[in-house]
Amino acid sequence: MAVAGVASGIVSSMPSYHTPRGTRDILPSDHAVWTRVETAARDLARRYGYRELDTPLFEQSAVFERGVGAATDIVEKELFRVSPSRGEEREQWALRPEATAGIVRAYVEHGLQTQPQPIRVSLYGPMFRYDRPQAGRYRQFWQWDVEAIGDPGPAVDAEIIELASRFYATVGLTNVEAKLNSIGDSTCRPGYIVALTEYYRPHASALPETERRRLETNPLRLLDSKDERVIELNHDAPKLWDHLCAACSAHFAAVRVHLDALKVPYRLAPDIVRGLDYYSRTTFEFFRPGAEGQQDALGGGGRYDGLVQLLGGKATPAIGFALGIDRVVSAILDGTDDDAARRDRGEGGPLAVVVGADPAATVERLRVATTLRAAGLAVGTDLAQRKLGRQLEAAVKEGARFAIIVGDELADGVVQLRDLGAASQKPVQLSDLASLLRRKAGGG
Ligand code: HAM
Repeated sequence: MAVAGVASGIVSSMPSYHTPRGTRDILPSDHAVWTRVETAARDLARRYGYRELDTPLFEQSAVFERGVGAATDIVEKELFRVSPSRGEEREQWALRPEATAGIVRAYVEHGLQTQPQPIRVSLYGPMFRYDRPQAGRYRQFWQWDVEAIGDPGPAVDAEIIELASRFYATVGLTNVEAKLNSIGDSTCRPGYIVALTEYYRPHASALPETERRRLETNPLRLLDSKDERVIELNHDAPKLWDHLCAACSAHFAAVRVHLDALKVPYRLAPDIVRGLDYYSRTTFEFFRPGAEGQQDALGGGGRYDGLVQLLGGKATPAIGFALGIDRVVSAILDGTDDDAARRDRGEGGPLAVVVGADPAATVERLRVATTLRAAGLAVGTDLAQRKLGRQLEAAVKEGARFAIIVGDELADGVVQLRDLGAASQKPVQLSDLASLLRRKAGGG
């Protein structure tokens, strides 16, 4: 956008800056929802015994290439590779596209396998995928990631799925459904892959380019293809469940027994094969009915019994999930759960704003506000030198419940406390103000 330089009298072109494609600003009007969701995640992690951990936003690229899989879309097409602009570093780095590989790297690097198992951890933060941006798909997005490393299941599989389900209900998304699958392990999956490849092979020439390539690199992915021809073919494709070995079958059945006992609703879905290579046995994704496209998954996860060893540790079973916070927040703001969204928006404002009867008396306003803030209260100030009426209007717009009007009576230690909702006010001793406001904040 070109902007005319009016002040100088010269018409010049100013650059207009904007967020990089696929990224977004979270403005204060929406931020309260983000914060509520984050608080709910952290609180649930604590209640379920998952301790918080953080890893760097970037890692050696090999952590993802090896961990997530070099032939996955996430690594092959979407990895944000970063190279330092100077210095001698020869490492290849990449921004983390997901948290699991980095967490497992940390588990191995810090010898966490010597601590009592399983290690239950939770990570909340931004991830980066250089994907084609579209609704629900961003280049920087947030995940709440939860992992239990060192437990072969099946009970912990159900604990993890129940935890994710509880999170959605807690933030007000009541109609989220888990889709559940088992993709077998290194004993039974290879035989299935052979059967699957043989089934597709005669149709290969009719398949789109991507699916033809996947037939060679990762035929399982054809099962969740969105291509009409492949969907048609998939009706008669061999079913993985018919090929599960006895141990995988027993595991799958036991996960379901635990979920049923916990009354967690789920649907069996053989197409949940996941886009990352590290999975074995249990896999799952979360959707709202009617929004079940690839960009609609509100979260997903599964068991990854081979990853710790793949990244240099001892063979260690593990399971986890990551929930897509951007999509959760959109679902909340979409209006499906209006009440919660409205409540959030109201929650962002300060309890009270200190305003002044004398527009110039900013020192007094700041002094009163500072005292209240030091006493632990959330108090805004209006420091604009404008009429009291305008200051009060602004306080209402900000969502404040009270205005504290500072005037001449301050000399006697008195201010006016105005209830902005009731439009009534009364004099209050400055020495009583903090405790009175604290009572009001507590609903008194
Ligand atoms: P994922 O299925 O790749 O799994 O991502 C989990 C969730 O992150 C998705 O269901 C979606 O909600 C969200 N998400 C993914 N990509 C984007 C994007 N470009 N924009 C917005 N949201 C997105 C994982 O990442 C695994 N690490 C999960 C896991 C943990 N498995 C075991 N432990």
